[in-house]
Formats: sequence, structure tokens, C-alpha cells
Amino acid sequence: MNDLHHEESQQGNATRRRFLKLAIGILASLNALILGIPFVSSLIGSARKRKTEWSRVTDIGSLPEGQPVEVKFQALTEDAYHHENTLYSVWLIRHAGNAVTAFSPNCPHLGCHFIWNPKIEKFACPCHASMFALDGKVLYGPAPRPLDTLPYKIENGVLFVRYERFRVGTSGKISL
Ligand code: FES
Repeated sequence: MNDLHHEESQQGNATRRRFLKLAIGILASLNALILGIPFVSSLIGSARKRKTEWSRVTDIGSLPEGQPVEVKFQALTEDAYHHENTLYSVWLIRHAGNAVTAFSPNCPHLGCHFIWNPKIEKFACPCHASMFALDGKVLYGPAPRPLDTLPYKIENGVLFVRYERFRVGTSGKISL
């Protein structure tokens, strides 16, 4: 009887040890997972975050006053792993006194490229018919915000733009 009791107690101890080992293993794995999340997300974040430097676009004197012109330019884009030269475009309007408006070419609704329609003197998006005034205000259609402006600077008569992308479909202008 005593032997039977002793054997049962030993089996119980072995089961408890197995359970404890399993529980410790699960906790250690969870711990490693939780500690690893910020590292992995920082890697993903830095890989996604793309930075574009100031890019030379055109001589300011080549822009007609008050008329939107689309200009293509190369920009160096960098992320955590590589650098590449990409062709972008920007809509430029030169105002009196060499002030400039630089619009991203992407419609803030879903990102299509819009055009300038000189007959009606409005920017028009071919995808869902949004229309914008010369100053970028929404006149018609589903676009949730005005056209997105890009930062620009002029040095020695040369216009530079820093290309950025913005989230589409939001009422606020949010950099990506
Ligand atoms: Fe321009 Fe929809 S993408 S109106």
C-alpha cells in the first residue's frame, strides 16, 4: 500500500515538473517575442521611411508668371538600405516677386495624377472628376482636402523642391 502511495506521489511530482518546464518555456518565448517587437518594428519603420533631399528642379526665370507648369525632375531617395534616383514631377506656379506654389502631382483623393485644364483654368483629376482652383482649393468631387503643397527654396535663381508623399483620402495632410 505504501509502495503504491509512493509511486503515485512520484508520478505526481514528475507531472508537476513537466508542467512547470512547459510554463517556463512558454513565458520565456512570450518574453522574447515582446522584447523583439520594438526591434523588428524599428527595422520595418526605418526601411519604410523614405527621405528625399532638396532636388534641383528648374531655373525660376523659365517659369511663366501665373501659369501652372508641370516639371519633371530627378530626386535622390534614401531609406535604411539603399539610395536611388527617381523621376518625380511637380506642378509649379510662379507668382509676382518670385514667390512660387509647388503642388505634389498626386490627387489627395486616391493619388491619381491630375492635370491643368487651361480652357476652364482648373486642375482636374481624371479618376473621379475632382476639380481644384489655381490655389489648390477643392471646387468639385470627392477630394477630401486641397492639393498638397511641397516645400521649395530658391538659390541663385534655381528652384529646389523637396519631394514628399502624403496619405490619400484623409482631410488632413499627413506625410508618409
Ligand atoms: Fe482624384 Fe479620385 S483620385 S478624384
